[in-house]
Amino acid sequence: MSRLTNWLRNRRARRTEEYLPALATVHRTILPRNYFEIGVSTGRSLALASVPSVAVDPNPKVDVALAAPVRLYPMTSDRFFAEEVLDEPIDFAFIDGMHRVEFVLRDFMNIEARAHAGTVVAMDDVMPEDIAYTARDQTPGAWTGDVYRIIPLLRRYRPDLDVRVYDVVQKGLGIVTRLDPSSRVLPQMYDRIVAELDRGAFLEASAAAIRAAIRPRPTTRLASDLAKFRRRSRS
Ligand SMILES: C[S@@+](CC[C@H](N)C(=O)[O-])C[C@H]1O[C@@H](n2cnc3c(N)ncnc32)[C@H](O)[C@@H]1O
Repeated sequence: MSRLTNWLRNRRARRTEEYLPALATVHRTILPRNYFEIGVSTGRSLALASVPSVAVDPNPKVDVALAAPVRLYPMTSDRFFAEEVLDEPIDFAFIDGMHRVEFVLRDFMNIEARAHAGTVVAMDDVMPEDIAYTARDQTPGAWTGDVYRIIPLLRRYRPDLDVRVYDVVQKGLGIVTRLDPSSRVLPQMYDRIVAELDRGAFLEASAAAIRAAIRPRPTTRLASDLAKFRRRSRS
């Protein structure tokens, strides 16, 4: 291997990370008082939480030890938000449920309505490294669905939000801050946005085009970006 190839490979390794260590960085940096998760599966991401947590999944299969007290709701997120009430506003939420853009949009809208100005929302699957991952129907192996469309969608309809994507390997990690629980923009425009999505809005033909549209930040910036946000939102 040439020295240049080696250098490039090492440089890329420093700038990218797996999603679980990146999520752990979010927990460690923002020190949330509570955690809310959509999409639990075997509990790998839920196990990173050490504060009182609420988790939602119609088919949870937790097989790891959980560090936090967790209220687990075995139902879809739409049903959860229609029927259940949270005791306090959400500090940190992770959206990793149904991998279709309109589901993620509804999950985000419902979380924002239960958020505060310092809430941090993380989103999985927002920058697939292969266009084959993006089918709307689940495929064997890596599957992100068309969740990546949520990033340009939020940037267009909610320029007041801070929407960043970190260069987490295979699927990216979205981080949304500056939430406004009083905003009615997305609920009021929901039907129009879904009609635009149905007509193909924000679809891309290749992983390179998705990446170019999303403009990811190196994961080495994740902790410092969040620390800055935390300082500002608490001052
Ligand atoms: C990729 S897995 C979650 C992985 C987990 N967050 C982790 O990192 O270990 C996606 C999960 O979303 C759940 N799911 C599917 N549709 C859902 C919905 N409408 N609401 C909530 N969860 C859903 C599935 O049952 C599945 O367990």
